[in-house]
Amino acid sequence: MSTGTTDNIRKVTTRRLIEMKQRGEKISMLTAYDYTMAAIIDQAGIDVILVGDSASNVMAGNVTTLPITLDQMIYHGKSVFKAVKRALVVVDLPFGSYQGNSKEALSSAIRIMKETDADCVKLEGGREVLESVNRILCAGIPIMGHLGLIPQSINKFGSYTVRAQEENEAKKLIEDAHLLEEAGCFSIVVEKVPAKLAGQVASELKIPVIGIGAGRYVDGQVLVMHDMLGLNKGFSPRFLRRYADLSGIITGAVQNYIHDVKSSDFPNEQEQY
Ligand code: KIV
Repeated sequence: MSTGTTDNIRKVTTRRLIEMKQRGEKISMLTAYDYTMAAIIDQAGIDVILVGDSASNVMAGNVTTLPITLDQMIYHGKSVFKAVKRALVVVDLPFGSYQGNSKEALSSAIRIMKETDADCVKLEGGREVLESVNRILCAGIPIMGHLGLIPQSINKFGSYTVRAQEENEAKKLIEDAHLLEEAGCFSIVVEKVPAKLAGQVASELKIPVIGIGAGRYVDGQVLVMHDMLGLNKGFSPRFLRRYADLSGIITGAVQNYIHDVKSSDFPNEQEQY
């Protein structure tokens, strides 16, 4: 948990997120993977920046989050952290870096903390990864959990459909959420589950529950930045609200540039030495 201040900006900490939940203030969270975008969204006032393993999809063009490596996550985490003055920075532990055994999980989390300067890590799963969760927490590294649709297990489930619609899966999700809270996680992301269930989890837990495709009865929301800015035209799930059409704006700007170069309009007299 970072506690310092920079340039009179009060840094968001894990404790502040819990206080926000206590006073009913919703938490805003977005992903970022590079210095420039992280600086923009931090200055815009976002509370939490997630260096998500969705970098595997939106930065590297992979179909799933599975191929991204710990070294690659560290590269993204380092770039983001350098830009951020206020937001809490969370870095995802990638697939294969914490599920094998808890010692490996701890050494992966330590590498992220040492090499990126991030404030905390996020990992996917409940009871199955509890030993890793406990060992990482014992080393003083804060953890954000992730339940519901857990993309690193996509090959086990075979689809990205809404999770925990059946009673037994919903019961397991609630149990896992309590286990993570009791272990000492400071927050949990709940992805693509029915709004009522996510609301129940948020009301039963003292720690903030951040939703993605999990409705409005939770303590905060997270979206993948490329999706909400309209950079990803091909991805249109029901839960996604687009706040810009950056793909359209970039296409227009590039087409204008091509036109100006080809017509010799750019550069003009004032744009040369
Ligand atoms: O990697 C990611 O972007 C995430 C969010 C979808 C929560 O885990």
